[in-house]
Amino acid sequence: MKSKILEILKARDGYVSGQELSEYFQVSRTAVWKAVARLKEEGYQIESVQKKGYRLVASPDVVLAEEIQSILKTRWAAREICYLKTVDSTNRYAKKKAEEGAPHGALVVAEEQTQGKGRMGRNWSDPAGQNIAMTLILRPAIQPQSASMVTLVAGLSVARALKTLCGLDVKIKWPNDVVAGGRKLCGILSEMSAEMSGIHYLVIGIGINVNTEHFPEELRDKATSLYLETGEKMQRARIIAACMEYFEEDFSLFEKTMDLSLLKDQYEALLINKDEKVKVLERDASYVGIAKGIDREGELLVEKEDGSLTRVYAGEVSVRGVYGYA
Ligand code: BTN
Repeated sequence: MKSKILEILKARDGYVSGQELSEYFQVSRTAVWKAVARLKEEGYQIESVQKKGYRLVASPDVVLAEEIQSILKTRWAAREICYLKTVDSTNRYAKKKAEEGAPHGALVVAEEQTQGKGRMGRNWSDPAGQNIAMTLILRPAIQPQSASMVTLVAGLSVARALKTLCGLDVKIKWPNDVVAGGRKLCGILSEMSAEMSGIHYLVIGIGINVNTEHFPEELRDKATSLYLETGEKMQRARIIAACMEYFEEDFSLFEKTMDLSLLKDQYEALLINKDEKVKVLERDASYVGIAKGIDREGELLVEKEDGSLTRVYAGEVSVRGVYGYA
């Protein structure tokens, strides 16, 4: 009821009467009043005027399920949201929820993450209330070796969402870092449970730096936030909703061919490494080449210095620009 009240208040310019809400929900006016009181406790500024009703004056920057759902326009992505004030890692929590049967599209989102996981065993720090830490649970009918393609789809969707919402020149650093001004805005870590015959579930963990004002010294040349790039603080729920909407759209194109054929052009248009010199760091070797784009499986096509073309699989490999992070 709280998310629907928010949706109604947001859609209305003026006041919505308690009578109208109580008729809509088929509950007493006291029940409506109580739901509004709970929203106020959560930080919503709602004016109540006798004989006129309720008016939403301002929404706080929260990632509560009802706030996200009050603006979300998806069919299945994030239709079920699990909100946590604090968690060790949303990926870890999402895997537990998936084991317990959470449906395709369920989203875990946390206000604070204390032991966030990054790619290649790295940490991902997430102080309370500034950024986005969320994990989407998926149950795609694909083979385990195709899972990395879905991670690329997520990278594309986040990049498109941030570009549209913030008007920034957002790029993708293969396979799925989202960057602005040559620094990382978003990192994605997918994990799966699978057997030879198929995937049980896939969790796509997305960390977006939104309102961070200062990064620690060691990250300053590699990381950035939407705030640092635009000078404006953003409502995180709006970003989450937009990411989910773009993901639903992009994932449906992925599902048509079960590869990236229909998304490749959009992806390459945002690929920061395209036609640039990159350094491919494999487990025990490294080489330099020119990134030519991706194939329909999401592998990076790199032209080596001897003219041969190799395909780099998005596993335990990292690709850097030769002059810095991007
Ligand atoms: C990277 O190293 O680039 C990937 C970072 C992924 C961080 C996100 S934050 C939400 C989710 N939960 C985690 O523990 N990690 C991912």
